[in-house]
Amino acid sequence: MNKGSEFSRRGFLKTMAAVGAALTLNPTINKVSAANTVLNGSNDSVVKKDGMEYRVLGSGKAAMEVSALGLGCMGMNYNRSQSPDKKECIRIIHEAVDRGVTLFDTAIIYGPLRNELLAGEALAPYKGRVNLTTKFGHEVIDGKGTGRQDSSRATVRRYCEESLKRLRLDTIPLFYQHRFDPNTPVEEVAETMNELIREGKIQRWGMCEVSADTIRKAHAICPLTAIQSEYHLMHRLVEENGVLDTCKELGIGFVPYSPLNRGFLGGCINEYTVFDVNNDNRHTLPRFQPEAMRANTRIVNELQNFGRTRGMTSSQVALGWLLHKAPWIVPIPGTTKESHLLENLHTLAFNVTDSDWEALEMAVAKIPVVGDRYNAEQQKQVGY
Ligand SMILES: NC(=O)c1ccc[n+]([C@@H]2O[C@H](COP(=O)([O-])OP(=O)(O)OC[C@H]3O[C@@H](n4cnc5c(N)ncnc54)[C@H](OP(=O)(O)O)[C@@H]3O)[C@@H](O)[C@H]2O)c1
Repeated sequence: MNKGSEFSRRGFLKTMAAVGAALTLNPTINKVSAANTVLNGSNDSVVKKDGMEYRVLGSGKAAMEVSALGLGCMGMNYNRSQSPDKKECIRIIHEAVDRGVTLFDTAIIYGPLRNELLAGEALAPYKGRVNLTTKFGHEVIDGKGTGRQDSSRATVRRYCEESLKRLRLDTIPLFYQHRFDPNTPVEEVAETMNELIREGKIQRWGMCEVSADTIRKAHAICPLTAIQSEYHLMHRLVEENGVLDTCKELGIGFVPYSPLNRGFLGGCINEYTVFDVNNDNRHTLPRFQPEAMRANTRIVNELQNFGRTRGMTSSQVALGWLLHKAPWIVPIPGTTKESHLLENLHTLAFNVTDSDWEALEMAVAKIPVVGDRYNAEQQKQVGY
């Protein structure tokens, strides 16, 4: 049994108990009012109404209750090739709110700046009722990313003020450090977060792609609400490097980004897919080269086979597997399509046994993953 299964059993039972309750109330995921959320301060998942499940990221003063699935806004105008116009993206974001989604993810570097502007405009009517999270760290000068990191106190304070304006918020519900800064000690970053929380500029904070050691140092100075790192059936590093164990021990939530492996596990991408070289980083990633995608299609086939007899799509299998791992895990799939949004949210309606998830996990683990997730330059920015 690997470390992942330690997360699976308790999380699965809680999740399925919650989903079962939801199904008793209503068999479909209906439109709900996002205003009906209350912090309960515990680490258990809770069902509010109409089939949407809510979970708690973090604990104590750092706790934040959010929908069990969030929406990643990045691909609506950055790094995921062509997308619909702004009006349609805003309509999809509003649809997500209507369906009970209360966690929306963006970052200063997405665009740069354009994605924050889009998310800010879309969610302005729901100010104070949903959580729009953003990230600092990548240096942006005159609207362009420099490729450097800057998490120094003065810069982060300035970025925070600028993000507040673009997001049309008085306070940021959760402000993540996007990548570690080799020139700014983690203790200094955590102190800056304490200042911003005291001043009411941010409510909580989180970190992306950092080691267990860094998480401990940061959390001791300013309690973390969530760690956001890549995690899905083709990339399970956080199970092995102590990050999930540390989150569990310290009561920190975990937000898996790219939960569909940048769309690959959805089954709509293959070796013939052409990415827009001007607006899609996937063409630079080893795992998205044609040879790698051809080999890795075996993994998508495994998910499709698993889903076929259960009436699930491969995306729902991928998201369901993450959700069952622990009740403090909240994936943030991105999409530009209403149909995919509804498909992904419908994941919460399925009932899969613990042993079935384990069988899937073992079947997938037997298939070698071809190609690294990042190229050398991007790998250097990850703090492991
Ligand atoms: N912290 C970090 O360093 C970091 C890094 C990357 C991403 N993120 C965050 O994570 C979010 C999600 O990541 P991501 O966009 O890289 O990857 P993802 O969520 O794994 O995949 C998104 C892709 O999957 C496709 N998709 C979504 N639902 C689908 C479905 N049901 N069937 C088939 N395809 C489907 C989307 O295409 P369609 O538009 O056609 O649906 C989109 O291109 C981002 O928006 C961002 O907020 C954070």
